[in-house]
Amino acid sequence: MRVAETDRTRWEATQRSLWSRRPDDWSQLAEPQNLQLFSDALDAAGVTAQTDLLDVGCGSGLALALAAQRGAHLSGIDISGPLLEVARGRVPGADLREGGMDVLPFPDSSFDVVLGINALQFAADAASALHEITRVLRPGGRLAVGGFARPETCQSTALHLAMESLVPPAQHDDHAPYALAAPGALERALADAGLAVTQDREQPGDWRYGDLDQALRGVLSSAGGTRAIGLAGEERVRAVLIEALEPFRTDSGEFVMHNRFRLTVAERAA
Ligand SMILES: C[S@@+](CC[C@H](N)C(=O)[O-])C[C@H]1O[C@@H](n2cnc3c(N)ncnc32)[C@H](O)[C@@H]1O
Repeated sequence: MRVAETDRTRWEATQRSLWSRRPDDWSQLAEPQNLQLFSDALDAAGVTAQTDLLDVGCGSGLALALAAQRGAHLSGIDISGPLLEVARGRVPGADLREGGMDVLPFPDSSFDVVLGINALQFAADAASALHEITRVLRPGGRLAVGGFARPETCQSTALHLAMESLVPPAQHDDHAPYALAAPGALERALADAGLAVTQDREQPGDWRYGDLDQALRGVLSSAGGTRAIGLAGEERVRAVLIEALEPFRTDSGEFVMHNRFRLTVAERAA
């Protein structure tokens, strides 16, 4: 592992607290925005009833619930106990572990498919997490990585920037939604971990909230929301978000942001 254990422990404690404040809003409003990406990742990785699947950073378990509909054998790991509680309700038979993704508590060659959706950028060290993922994949097994494409292609970047404006620069990398979106960053990290890219594409992924209250609750349930509230207070965060959301209000009162997501599949050598 490349980061010292004390640094990893501190990072994980921060992530745990950032992601654990509003599990109901996350699971009901924010997580479903990426339903299409989850479904496409399962298709791209070839998940079937025969698949032993691990979801790294599984959050409140919606991707696992979709995989359950295909009959896959399910495992998940996440740093947030409250999000895992929701996941346990959704996929009662799954093996769900609370912990960090830099050190995976599973034996070598346990899984056919690993999912890392909107998640790998929150490892204390993404290189360590990817080496662990390679270790737990069977030879020929596949990792599906999903996440934001370049920030300038996502309208929701406006919301991240609005919240970021309330955070002192020294703390900017506690929450890094685009960390793996830099050109070449993901390819290099996958190759270093011994994973060969077999599919790589960008696709649209709109975020659609029914009204302003839902949009605010969805966004404030993320790590970026928690952190901004902690530093600036909820009233100020709501004020900057209301302003940032206004361009995305539709005639019907919904808030729609056109985003692009990148979906990459990489394989461990057979
Ligand atoms: C953006 S959410 C994505 C959740 C889910 N995969 C999805 O796409 O909706 C990031 C998730 O990573 C988890 N997380 C953050 N840091 C982590 C770490 N170091 N190890 C494991 N999970 C972590 C959070 O608790 C949260 O559930």
